[in-house]
Amino acid sequence: MNLRIGIIGATGYTGYELVQIIQRHPHASIAWLTSESSAGKRLSDLYPTPDDTLLIKMADASLSEVDVVFLCLPHVASMEAVAWVRSEGVRAIDLSADYRLPDADIYEQWYGQKHTQTDLLKEAVYGLCEVKREQIVSAGLVGNPGCYPTSVNLGLWPLAQAGVLKPGIIVDSKSGVSGAGRKLRLNSHYVEANENLRPYSIGYAHRHIAEMELILGAHVPNLQITFSPHLLPVNRGILSTMYVDVDKTLDEQALRHLYANAYGDEPFIHLLPAAAVATLKHTNHTNRCAIALTPLPRPGQYIVTASEDNLLKGASGQAVQNMNIMFGLDETAGLV
Ligand SMILES: NC(=O)c1ccc[n+]([C@@H]2O[C@H](COP(=O)([O-])OP(=O)(O)OC[C@H]3O[C@@H](n4cnc5c(N)ncnc54)[C@H](OP(=O)(O)O)[C@@H]3O)[C@@H](O)[C@H]2O)c1
Repeated sequence: MNLRIGIIGATGYTGYELVQIIQRHPHASIAWLTSESSAGKRLSDLYPTPDDTLLIKMADASLSEVDVVFLCLPHVASMEAVAWVRSEGVRAIDLSADYRLPDADIYEQWYGQKHTQTDLLKEAVYGLCEVKREQIVSAGLVGNPGCYPTSVNLGLWPLAQAGVLKPGIIVDSKSGVSGAGRKLRLNSHYVEANENLRPYSIGYAHRHIAEMELILGAHVPNLQITFSPHLLPVNRGILSTMYVDVDKTLDEQALRHLYANAYGDEPFIHLLPAAAVATLKHTNHTNRCAIALTPLPRPGQYIVTASEDNLLKGASGQAVQNMNIMFGLDETAGLV
């Protein structure tokens, strides 16, 4: 099989990461790459790569030339672009937040915009591969999960689905600067970010809480998440440190069984041994999520650490994992 791939918004960080994965994928090749501001240029004009694929405008891209389209646009911009792709029945994987939340009112609450494609929201599948695999297989449209929620949801999913997670959760996350995208912003300027550590959107303010409530809240009644993201002056990587309470009767070994049962032989979940903690180096430049459990002296209290590469498992790697599932390929194809 050779899947022909279109990438919309190929010049951003997630788009370029996708190009690199597809180039080494044994069953996929690039058909076209779009850019609105750099159409007419070549990828090698923008990135240090010998790849000289010509960038074209979305209006010049042909859906008859592709089997699947990845969209790497900012939220809101993606709504209509996905509708165009789906109008011709082409399968779509959207990396923005536009198709992650099934409820248009919740989308509006967090993103401050009315959703213009509510019918498409109904068909979209949330692409958290390890949790939604069965629905992803036949999906026409996948809303690829956000970077922070992937680490948090994978880190706590085994506890939530087993019904042992208590509703009050504190999550302290740190993200590398590529998480903010390639567009220039004052806070990600070198002098602002370097040698600094900045919390932002704290106090039930970060939009990614909605995806944590979607996945964990489905199993934990009255879930209350306190989420504090930070900008960490490294290029890539997310580390989430989560403070949780579980049933007091569960000792560390029982908890480890829950994780082992939930994840079995999952190729991209790395459960770390006792006394280890997850770090960025466990997962950077891979599609893995590393998860570690640390018991506190008080019964039923644990710290869960989970790391991932925000551009891979947190974005483009997971998007390709979704594509592999959708097209019946080896789920690990093209990924490390
Ligand atoms: N960075 C991460 O770690 C990460 C992780 C998970 C999810 N995401 C999500 O993935 C999406 C892409 O993120 P990114 O980090 O790759 O962003 P980025 O580096 O800022 O790139 C965004 C791309 O979208 C295009 N674009 C910008 N505004 C547009 C508009 N109004 N209409 C059409 N095209 C537009 C830009 O291309 P041209 O100007 O060349 O057209 C660029 O190629 C975002 O929704 C983001 O939230 C990012």
